[in-house]
Amino acid sequence: MANRSVIITDQTTGKQLECPVYEGQYGAPVIDIKNLYKELGMFTFDIGYASTAACRSAITYLDGEEGVLLHRGYPIDQLAEKSSFLEVSYLLIHGELPNQTQLDEWNHAIKMHGMTHEHLSRFYQGYRYDAHPMSVLAGVVAAVASFYHSSTDIYNPEHRMLTARRVIAKMPNLVSKIYRYGSGLPFVYPDNSRDYIENFMYMMFSWPTEPYVANPVALPALNLLFILHADHEQSASTSTVRLAGSAESNPFAAVSAGVATLWGKAHGGANEAVIDMLTEIGDAKNIHKFIARAKDKDDNFRLMGFGHRVYKNYDPRAKIIRQACHDLLESMNLNQPMFEVAMELERIALEDDYFISRKLYPNVDFYSGLIYQALNIPTSMFTPMFALARASGWIAQWMEMLSDGDFRIGRPRQLYIGAQRRDYVPVAQRG
Ligand code: SDX
Repeated sequence: MANRSVIITDQTTGKQLECPVYEGQYGAPVIDIKNLYKELGMFTFDIGYASTAACRSAITYLDGEEGVLLHRGYPIDQLAEKSSFLEVSYLLIHGELPNQTQLDEWNHAIKMHGMTHEHLSRFYQGYRYDAHPMSVLAGVVAAVASFYHSSTDIYNPEHRMLTARRVIAKMPNLVSKIYRYGSGLPFVYPDNSRDYIENFMYMMFSWPTEPYVANPVALPALNLLFILHADHEQSASTSTVRLAGSAESNPFAAVSAGVATLWGKAHGGANEAVIDMLTEIGDAKNIHKFIARAKDKDDNFRLMGFGHRVYKNYDPRAKIIRQACHDLLESMNLNQPMFEVAMELERIALEDDYFISRKLYPNVDFYSGLIYQALNIPTSMFTPMFALARASGWIAQWMEMLSDGDFRIGRPRQLYIGAQRRDYVPVAQRG
């Protein structure tokens, strides 16, 4: 409900439009401008949507100034310390933490949907052995749509919940097959005697010839990373899933569009780009050259893992991951030279006025790659791991959109700056 409004006045014509202002639970209120074009004949203009709320949502709340992240009201640091990734995925989708019976049923249901159609395995053969894993993931997630298209009614809540379980359950299977295919290893079926994350590591790294024992350090580290990557409000990839879903696309096709968006190094691809950057820096004595390039407006180089559209304070996830990274490297007795370079880069960047004045802090991707590196996850698999975790958020947001009574297809407008109207000229008469 609106309890106040703003007046937009066209000072050329004197025409005015009163727009209702809606307050949320937290965060900036919103101005409802749906009548702007009809009444004043104008659109709003907001490249990158920095000041635009595209939907209402109850799933995640971010406060960029305070560095706050809540999932269904629960602070990310409490979930990171006390919860599990599957429990967080339940929370994102259902809105409440499960009791033990609900959690057991959820865990069982996810196990029961962990297999993929045997024919799906053939899709991987179409890729070069060295194809980028995100290219493969976008393709095979879309391919899953072909197995669940005619049987899925997106307007049936039970079908939406079944889809959510399938997406969450199958992502570890789909992602592990990418690594196995690229490594020339046979695909591994899920082993439901193992829990979600151990099953994923089993499908990734087990050898047909040896019994598999999961790395005891890796399991809690991945549980933490997956929790921290599960959802993050209306990021570029989540907005893509919503937009694709708003056209009534198959939900797996919408998730595939989210995968494609996450691939960009301005977004989820940054975790891989951070490692590539730290490798290129090599030694702390070279850091100043990269800081100079990051400041150079004629150089499109950006310091990977720094900055965020929303966080103008330390990304709360980065704080959690930074400590976990320290602890993991210490426990594994790894004096990762790359970590030393990362720490020195962070120190220098946080003291440099260019970064301070622009509030460019390390983000979640700055440290996640270092943990994956320490766990011997190949760099090119970092973003698929991000996608595996974020699939829970994507499908929760898709479900929320479709169950919102006001839901309609997203169709932004534009400011046209092209040619004036002109008549066709036959080629013989062209200059
Ligand atoms: C993720 O949306 C989400 O929630 C995303 C995510 C999630 O969980 O889904 O949090 C995951 O994508 C984290 C971000 C990972 N990307 C990177 O680490 C890539 C490096 N970062 C930048 O590309 C950038 O900071 C963005 C893309 C993250 C944010 O870009 P914005 O909000 O459009 O910022 P901007 O381009 O308007 O930059 C403002 C200023 C500019 O300088 P001026 O023109 O004012 O002089 O800051 C500068 C930029 O040039 N700047 C950087 C910089 N990031 C911004 N300069 C150097 N290095 C950087 N990393």
